[in-house]
Amino acid sequence: MSKILVLGGAGYIGSHTVYELMDEGFEVVIADNLETGHRCAVHPDAKLYVGDIRDRAFLDGIFKIEKIDAVVHFAAYSLVGESMTDPLKYYANNVGGTQVLLSSMVANRVPKVVFSSSAATYGEPERIPILESDPTEPTNTYGGTKLAMEQMFKWTSLAHGIKYTSLRYFNACGAHPSGHIGEDHNPETHLIPIVLQAANGTRADIKVFGTDYKTKDGTCVRDYVHVCDLAQAHVKALRYLLAGGENDVFNLGNGVGFSVNEVIKAAEEVVGHEIPTVISSRRAGDPAVLVASSDKAKTVLGWEPHYESIYTILETAWKWHRAHPNGFDEDR
Ligand code: UFG
Repeated sequence: MSKILVLGGAGYIGSHTVYELMDEGFEVVIADNLETGHRCAVHPDAKLYVGDIRDRAFLDGIFKIEKIDAVVHFAAYSLVGESMTDPLKYYANNVGGTQVLLSSMVANRVPKVVFSSSAATYGEPERIPILESDPTEPTNTYGGTKLAMEQMFKWTSLAHGIKYTSLRYFNACGAHPSGHIGEDHNPETHLIPIVLQAANGTRADIKVFGTDYKTKDGTCVRDYVHVCDLAQAHVKALRYLLAGGENDVFNLGNGVGFSVNEVIKAAEEVVGHEIPTVISSRRAGDPAVLVASSDKAKTVLGWEPHYESIYTILETAWKWHRAHPNGFDEDR
């Protein structure tokens, strides 16, 4: 079985992907600097190297010891707001880190990589659902760095033959059905964890950012896709590359849009009581509607999301938040 290096394997989507890879029998090695990742999110049977992808010697050391067949690359900063106030921090880590990674992969002849990209590469879409061939005009630095990283894979592949897939996630959400791992960002900025924190009392309320969008109820519409479905897509993308698949870019979403108000209503049904909600002003840079076409991932990779219901997605997230009201802090 192939040996996979997961960079950022202690983070939200990374840790769920590690669980999925191990379930499918891959040998997994994790590298994470634990700046935003959590030691407790690391699968107990995976080997963890603590270090930074900007450290070339650190990466070279892992590749020399471990004989890695392919890399899954999650290691990046991902706060859209912070990326606008501190863009160079994002370029240094996301783009700079990927440059060091690719240099090390070239030098150590590691041939394949699955890359964690984002719907943020599209910016304000011209049409819905969004196709991979649609224009990419990011409206924030975070999306700009993800697009720059995609480009770096493309040109490096041409020069050195490394094969890659870029997976553009829409709104990752939910938690592992075991309840052992889930979403824990600091600060938390994402809708579903904030709604559930307002539900369990660790936060006063959920602020709805804008009710005057041209959408079904005036609030923003997003495509919520379960983190375990994303994890499955990484396994499929790896198998595709390991079987000789060509470079490609894939959207990953459920293809259904839910408004902020709809998510809050569904969450109220799942938790069984009202959730304190406050109407607030728009958040800068939020597109009104983002919904994916994932037909390409379905056709080429054979990916099929299993968590299509927003209720089931919220139930898994609620199981995690109820058991871990303070996130991974509880487990330390
Ligand atoms: N929202 C609120 N209140 C909150 C938090 C969010 O109303 O307290 C709204 C946002 O305005 C947005 C929706 O809920 O309309 C979803 O917001 P998230 O922050 O959960 O997610 P985003 O759609 O902003 O961002 C996600 C990923 C980013 C990625 C982006 C792509 O989290 O990493 O999609 O556009 F860049």
